[in-house]
Amino acid sequence: MTDRPLRLGVNIDHVATIRNARGGRHPDPVRAARLAADAGADGITAHLREDRRYISEEDIRRLKAEIALPLNLEMAATDEMLGIALATRPLAACLVPEKRAELTTEGGLDVAANHGHLGPVIKALSDAGIRVSLFIDPDPVQIAVAHALGAPVVELHTGAYCDAVEGHRSDALERLRSAAKRAAALGLEVHAGHGLTFETVRPVAAIPEVVELNIGHFLIGEAIFAGLDSTIHRMRALMDDARSGGGGTVAV
Ligand code: PXP
Repeated sequence: MTDRPLRLGVNIDHVATIRNARGGRHPDPVRAARLAADAGADGITAHLREDRRYISEEDIRRLKAEIALPLNLEMAATDEMLGIALATRPLAACLVPEKRAELTTEGGLDVAANHGHLGPVIKALSDAGIRVSLFIDPDPVQIAVAHALGAPVVELHTGAYCDAVEGHRSDALERLRSAAKRAAALGLEVHAGHGLTFETVRPVAAIPEVVELNIGHFLIGEAIFAGLDSTIHRMRALMDDARSGGGGTVAV
């Protein structure tokens, strides 16, 4: 048990995914970020991908301008994204691997294989006052290289743990626990995320060295079930009001 606070970063990417399915403005990820702030989120996370499949640059600009919570920009370590981060100045930037055809970030960043490329990106972001985190698998070599690269934060990829069948998660959980311990002992701040749900969050939230969880897909998906009922009721009421000549007694 620990009483160290655990921050929640809400990833609003998939509000934009639904918006982009129609190409209009609804649902607005900035409105979702405002709601997340009111609901107790500690930060907003968004992944600006090369193909802009969810969040756009305009979303990032608005999130920075309109939302008081700290912004954690997930990004690939490319020149284009570095330029955008330096111009936008989010509180934090989380460097993630990006493959064009993947559905989501499939694994952690291989910092051991890419340290020569990552070093200057980490330095440029850090020099601009942006707190860099490296999204890595819970692996001792990756942690050692992340530390050597001088990034202050690692985010441990929880995908392997979450994807394991219930009852067979203990090995993956143990890897997360020992990675968190190892990273914290080196002085790294430890975050975790990817694939977390109501069912999988508790053991990860209980790891004492972890100080932040970033959660997106499940929250947005689950919000459909938490909110669809009242949304349909309101549409029904508006329709019935119009039909009965109620003249707008039901608020939009
Ligand atoms: N952390 C990082 C670095 C990610 O890339 C993602 C997915 O974009 C998440 C956390 C959140 O994962 P999920 O959407 O599965 O909750």
